[in-house]
Amino acid sequence: MLVEEKNAVTEEIENLVKTYGSERSALMPILQEIQKKHRHISDYAQQEVARLLDIHPVEVFSFISFYSFLNTEPKGKNIIRICRTIVCDTKNKSAVVAAIERELGIKVGETTKDKKFTLEYANCIGMCDQGPAMAVNDRVYTKVTPEKAIAILSEVRG
Ligand code: FES
Repeated sequence: MLVEEKNAVTEEIENLVKTYGSERSALMPILQEIQKKHRHISDYAQQEVARLLDIHPVEVFSFISFYSFLNTEPKGKNIIRICRTIVCDTKNKSAVVAAIERELGIKVGETTKDKKFTLEYANCIGMCDQGPAMAVNDRVYTKVTPEKAIAILSEVRG
């Protein structure tokens, strides 16, 4: 990271501390704001948050690791989530996962090189009677087949 970039990150976090305070309870809103803007919380941002809130960097890292919506690596522009819960499992979900992995050239848990897609598992997305279910960002799809999944991906790709 360049010095100018580091300075910008520091300034941004200093402003967040002005808004949310430097108590431990400010950790969540500060990290959420950083995540929202940068789609991840870099090592440097973690160090700066720790410094400005006067806590250990390991504490910041553990906090991020605990919450699945916070992450230390940039994710893709589109997040694909496949329900991995047993109900969807019984409905040919693995064929859907295999088709998506093949199409994107990544495995579950990975992000495509062009940063367009991240593929993840989710624990139930509330459509258990219409599985297998998958979500792309906020949109949920039901009764997904391998063919339907590929069609959804090309639609999202635009
Ligand atoms: S078990 Fe798959 S959506 Fe609930």
